[in-house]
Amino acid sequence: MKKGEVISLKNVWKTYQMGETKLDAAKNINIDIKKGEFVVILGPSGAGKSTIMNLVGCLDEPTKGHIYLDGKDVSLMHESELSRIRGQKIGFIFQQFNLIPTLTAAENVYLPMSFQDVERKDGMVKAEKLLKMVGLGNRSHHKPSELSGGERQRVAIARSMANSPSVILADEPTGNLDSKTGQEVMAMLNKIHEEGATVILITHDLNLVKHAERTIFLKDGMIEKVKNGSKKRKVMHNKNKK
Ligand SMILES: Nc1ncnc2c1ncn2[C@@H]1O[C@H](COP(=O)(O)OP(=O)(O)OP(=O)(O)O)[C@@H](O)[C@H]1O
Ligand SMILES: [Mg+2]
Repeated sequence: MKKGEVISLKNVWKTYQMGETKLDAAKNINIDIKKGEFVVILGPSGAGKSTIMNLVGCLDEPTKGHIYLDGKDVSLMHESELSRIRGQKIGFIFQQFNLIPTLTAAENVYLPMSFQDVERKDGMVKAEKLLKMVGLGNRSHHKPSELSGGERQRVAIARSMANSPSVILADEPTGNLDSKTGQEVMAMLNKIHEEGATVILITHDLNLVKHAERTIFLKDGMIEKVKNGSKKRKVMHNKNKK
């Protein structure tokens, strides 16, 4: 693992065992994500995108190979250490939002902070701020069922930023949205990137490649090709991210 790399996958395989049959959903994947990069992982349905999201996000263990987070082999960490570091470092935006239905928008945003032992009072203040940032200042007391799809996605974005992570990992964040709301979500991700975060965007949508500094093309569980994008990062202010 070279300097400046946040997440690194080395010869990673993921094999799902279904009774007698085996399915290789990720085949010998090598990915190095550099600090501050905007990377798009592109592929059609079934290509292995969510499988790779779970591996890149250290939510799943590879069948073979190694995953390094900040230079540390994830397989050598205890689960408690891994979940603490992952919670501090990575903000997740899931395709299906994964909001807790019984909690309000603000409580959903506070949740990842509670796992990092942030006091509820302080955490809820920050949650309200984040919701304001995504344009939902007046929806903080709504439960997910009382929000539109686009609003839920924005709550998920606010939640992903709860612990000021240095990496945002988003799986089809615009997949369930109309094109205008999708563009707003992309604008938010670009802003987070310009403020210094590393953004990894997973999608089947070729139109989103224009946002990438680097695109990794996936097919049948393999990396087909890697292309550098023309996009250059406008650094607004470097917050000296961890
Ligand atoms: N838990 C599992 N057990 C067995 N097979 C699985 C499992 N999860 C995924 N697969 C298979 O692995 C392959 C890759 O799945 P994955 O969910 O990573 O695809 P994807 O690129 O995210 O697709 P989509 O765009 O439809 O979300 C698929 O063929 C899928 O059927
Ligand atoms: Mg998927």
